Amino acid sequence: MNAEDRAAPSRARQEAARAVLEAAQAMYAKGLVEGTAGNVSGRVGDGTFCLTPSSLGYEAMRTSDLVFVDADGGAVAGDGHPSSEKALHLSCYRQWAEVGGVVHCHPLYASMFAVARQSIPAAIEEVVIYIGGDVEICDYHLTGSDELGEAVAGALGERSAVLMANHGLVTVGRDPADALHAALVVERTAHIVWGARLLGTPGSVPEKVNQDFAAVYRWVRESSWGGDA
Ligand code: 13P
Repeated sequence: MNAEDRAAPSRARQEAARAVLEAAQAMYAKGLVEGTAGNVSGRVGDGTFCLTPSSLGYEAMRTSDLVFVDADGGAVAGDGHPSSEKALHLSCYRQWAEVGGVVHCHPLYASMFAVARQSIPAAIEEVVIYIGGDVEICDYHLTGSDELGEAVAGALGERSAVLMANHGLVTVGRDPADALHAALVVERTAHIVWGARLLGTPGSVPEKVNQDFAAVYRWVRESSWGGDA
């Protein structure tokens, strides 16, 4: 730990911690996880990343419980243990310099698709606008493993969400709040598609509309996501 890391947290780290805590508590309040499951992180912009601690209840969590790590996962500040899914978060930041926030959660309907090993089709327009297209699924790897991190980042591609086989969902965004919004859009879509399949055969958004909205997604991502690239 260098002198800056031992000193009082910088303004950038304080802001990142507030954003991560807010998204983590909202993730829990919205029912995207049970108990201490799931984790949230944010890119600070000074080469470090702020992560929720492992296995701590969200309601009692405070910014002082959050942990800062460098790009290799070494702890630089904070007393707690970083999330066991640290590798997954860091591999998303490594792969996509514009990503500023990552959310991992276990939402009910999206997780049904992850267990059935089915992608979630972009059956409503907002999925293409906010996620970039269908939510694909990556192969199963053990929770917390480096292999899982690599598989997630690989399957994510240039979209905002990916399912993890027999596990849950990972979303990315401009910041932690944006990644949480992506998770809520995915869960809502999974619920809608699940119900539509019970009602009959779901229709599709016309291909031209999908292409146009995917271009809108890419434009927003390129023009307004920042990261510290
Ligand atoms: P952590 O509490 O270590 O973040 O793990 C929760 C989880 O959901 C693992 O996939």
